[in-house]
Amino acid sequence: MLQHFDPKLDYNRDYGTPASLSEKQITLEVDGVEIRVPEGTSVMRAAALADINIPKLCASDNLEAFGSCRLCAVQIEGRRGMPASCTTPAEEGMKVWTQTDKLAKLRRNIMELYISDHPLDCLTCPTNGNCELQDMAGAVGLREVRYGFDGENHLQAEKDTSNPYFTYDPSKCIVCSRCVRACSEVQGTFALTIDGRGFDSRVAAGQDENFLDSECVSCGACVQACPTATLTENSVIEMGQPEHSVVTTCAYCGVGCSFKAEMKGDKLVRMLPYKGGEANHGHACVKGRFAFGYATHKDRIRAPMIRYSIDQPWREVSWEEAIGFAARRLKEIQAEHGRESIGGITSSRCTNEEAFLVQKLIRAAFGNNNTDTCARVCHSPTGYGLKQTLGESAGTQTFDSVLKADCVLVIGANPTDAHPVFGSLLRRRLREGASLIVTDPRHIDLLDTPHLNDSMHLPLRPGSNVAMVNALAHVIISEGLEDSDFIASRCDTDGYNQWRNFIADTRHAPENVEEITGVAAAKVRAAARTFAKAPNAAIYYGLGVTEHSQGSTTVMGIANLALATGNIGREGVGVNPLRGQNNVQGSCDMGSFPHELPGYQHVADPVARGHFEAAWGVQIDPEPGLRIPNMFDAAIAGAFRAMYVQGEDIAQSDPNTQHVEQALRSLDCLIVQDIFLNETAKFAHVLLPGSTFLEKNGTFTNAERRINRVRKVMPPLAGKEDWEVTQELANALGYPMNYSHPSEIMDEIASLTPSFANVDYDRLEQYGSLQWPCNDAYPEGSPIMHVDSFPIGKAQFAITEFVPTTERANRRFPLLLTTGRILSQYNVGAQTRRTENQVWHNEDVLEVHPHDAEERGINDGDWLGISSRSGHTVLRARVSERMQPGVVYTTFHHPHSGANVITTDNSDWATNCPEYKVTAVQVEKVSQPSEWQRNFHDNHHRQHGFLREARAETS
Ligand code: SF4
Ligand code: SF4
Ligand code: SF4
Ligand code: FES
Repeated sequence: MLQHFDPKLDYNRDYGTPASLSEKQITLEVDGVEIRVPEGTSVMRAAALADINIPKLCASDNLEAFGSCRLCAVQIEGRRGMPASCTTPAEEGMKVWTQTDKLAKLRRNIMELYISDHPLDCLTCPTNGNCELQDMAGAVGLREVRYGFDGENHLQAEKDTSNPYFTYDPSKCIVCSRCVRACSEVQGTFALTIDGRGFDSRVAAGQDENFLDSECVSCGACVQACPTATLTENSVIEMGQPEHSVVTTCAYCGVGCSFKAEMKGDKLVRMLPYKGGEANHGHACVKGRFAFGYATHKDRIRAPMIRYSIDQPWREVSWEEAIGFAARRLKEIQAEHGRESIGGITSSRCTNEEAFLVQKLIRAAFGNNNTDTCARVCHSPTGYGLKQTLGESAGTQTFDSVLKADCVLVIGANPTDAHPVFGSLLRRRLREGASLIVTDPRHIDLLDTPHLNDSMHLPLRPGSNVAMVNALAHVIISEGLEDSDFIASRCDTDGYNQWRNFIADTRHAPENVEEITGVAAAKVRAAARTFAKAPNAAIYYGLGVTEHSQGSTTVMGIANLALATGNIGREGVGVNPLRGQNNVQGSCDMGSFPHELPGYQHVADPVARGHFEAAWGVQIDPEPGLRIPNMFDAAIAGAFRAMYVQGEDIAQSDPNTQHVEQALRSLDCLIVQDIFLNETAKFAHVLLPGSTFLEKNGTFTNAERRINRVRKVMPPLAGKEDWEVTQELANALGYPMNYSHPSEIMDEIASLTPSFANVDYDRLEQYGSLQWPCNDAYPEGSPIMHVDSFPIGKAQFAITEFVPTTERANRRFPLLLTTGRILSQYNVGAQTRRTENQVWHNEDVLEVHPHDAEERGINDGDWLGISSRSGHTVLRARVSERMQPGVVYTTFHHPHSGANVITTDNSDWATNCPEYKVTAVQVEKVSQPSEWQRNFHDNHHRQHGFLREARAETS
């Protein structure tokens, strides 16, 4: 396991080797100082904990000790020679000396050899002042290099500048292998090797390719590990060393990695993963570490804008005028069309405090419950399904918990692309020997994990998840593999007996669902046995589970599997939804849904509602409001006339684009608060500049319910943090809000939300982060849920009948389209498309199996028209065996791709989460873009023209 946040440690220091988690303490003496450390701690770390710094080059506290540079040699009483302190475990009673004449001489000799093959350009080197080699030369007192530079050396070695974010300058390499080990141990990609021997040794990416062409996924772990300027961020080369830093949280995915934003004045030089962050322990992916350039991109909206019609040019106005205009329009519309005619959408990209404020604005100032969030289109079935079965709408584990899993079942998720830092942790556990079962229509990269022990892929047909989880459960029950003790003590008996009768029916037997799932029964049986027999089995799932007409049913089926096998309530097990956006958990927690107040308290519950009414001084409607798809339908019908959308691009991200566009066009007033003129903003009447995560204070809650601080590192580009804008809108509407800092909003959240009762900014400072529930029963938060009991007392098994989707392949649409994400782009791509990440993925393509390609005469790179009953779009073909025959796949990161023009408005029966993952389509070669794409381009140019005109007029 990895170490928990320890406030006594300085996470800006490198203690040389990883912490030992042993509970047994031992005592040793280093340079006469007595030190107590956990057994298994290296001598180097023990010394560092007592502030005795032993020189080192090849060691780092996030890598296993390697013992190659010998600079860290020490002398130990009673032992011969000078052992490396990084590879020598501390022992009870040991007496260590770190500074003797003999050691000084040895270290100087070692450094002399290194420096004799190193360019002496320290003054002009980008890492000058932040170079471990330079520091060590100083620490060992190197004063001369006797060997000269005339002999053979590497000083002319050519640089590799292929990666857009970092440069490899081999002339500075000391072959310490920290980069190679970081790539293997931390990232799990194994892209680097040390090529050659002895003097000819050099670091090589892949088969001696450049970094860009190799398997490197640009996570930057090697750059962070490098003790010299060999691997250096281009931003550091261009801007120089940062001078101060602020710890904050990544705003891309639901892993919620902590970073040190390293600054020069108000300019961001680099994002350095923060070792004190418990979600990432100092690791990151290409998005969080490198893709921050969008924050200062020229496309940022810098001033509020208004217009009466979307066919009119924009007018840049003051904040006061824009907010006054928006408030006036909202009031006019409500006066004319009624209280229910307006609503809003909270953002899963914004902070908890901001989401809380938007739903409060809607409930208290708009006077209705017409609030929803993008979780509607991703994880709303998780909220529903887990609440029904386990009693709480959240994942049960910490990410670190996976390091204790013996079997990992991944259903409809692609962690190495969509949740990369968790993907790396999972790969580590798989290398250690855990079994992997992947249930996915597509062959995902996780299945290609280097040094994988035991893996199984169940390549099911899109739309057959429920049949698959039922078949797995059937095997467990029919073969007597259930955990009867757990079921008897922790689950509702009547419910279990009913479910048992249901699932034992042979219609769920793998042999009888083969036709539906397309997966051989023997494979399903083997997977079920592996899962049920593992001492600890954990389930991780993603949008491949939720975005179906039976998304909620599958979530409940997953909970059934975990309950039946007793895999709930301890480390290494659990039900783990991999949340998409950075704060999707938080936006749900904060009451963004139309039927739930913050903390999942139903609006119909008079007691809960009473607390909010008393605190907010208003009456709250006891009836749930409109969900996003209902808002669209009502807009087209004319009953819903105005919408406030904070930080969500519904025009790109929601299904059946033409329907969404029609709804947005029907609105009398659309207020969009965003950082760019996104697809939704093209239909807006009021455009309020949003602030990025770098420009605000607040908190995000990640997929493990971890509340992390977001700290302002630079002023908001347009002068206001998002919560301030919502507050001003509320005030303009006549509902007073007077917060002076987001910490005050969190205090209000804590006072009204039982699971957040003990959360405040001071406590977050003290603990680094907190996982809810955090209340009097769990004052330090709850890393693992349901340890002794469930919030509903006994867990409930759910009956999960398989009902095939109506979206089936037929003669007209014989293929099934499913969608997913790619590592380098994020969601609608608004941020990552404005960074160098474009190098890896500058267009969405359609993956087609060779069999389907051959039938249609399709070659790689051909333009393909894709038609469904919703619409038609055109993408380039990629012939790929990752897909199964009959299934095609695309991503949706580029708006002009129109992936959602094809997806339908079929949705989950319980939550209306769209069925993005199953669309029946036909594919054929074409020579020109679709009509929708041509219209898209026209509107794009027109709206950007309006923006340019508005800017030109103001300047
Ligand atoms: S950037 Fe990451 S994946 Fe690429 S070589 Fe370095 S550690 Fe490996
Ligand atoms: S590139 Fe850096 S980390 Fe890698 S071997 Fe060379 S000096 Fe060490
Ligand atoms: S894994 Fe997610 S949270 Fe972490 S750096 Fe990457 S995008 Fe950011
Ligand atoms: S730091 Fe110990 S051998 Fe290199």
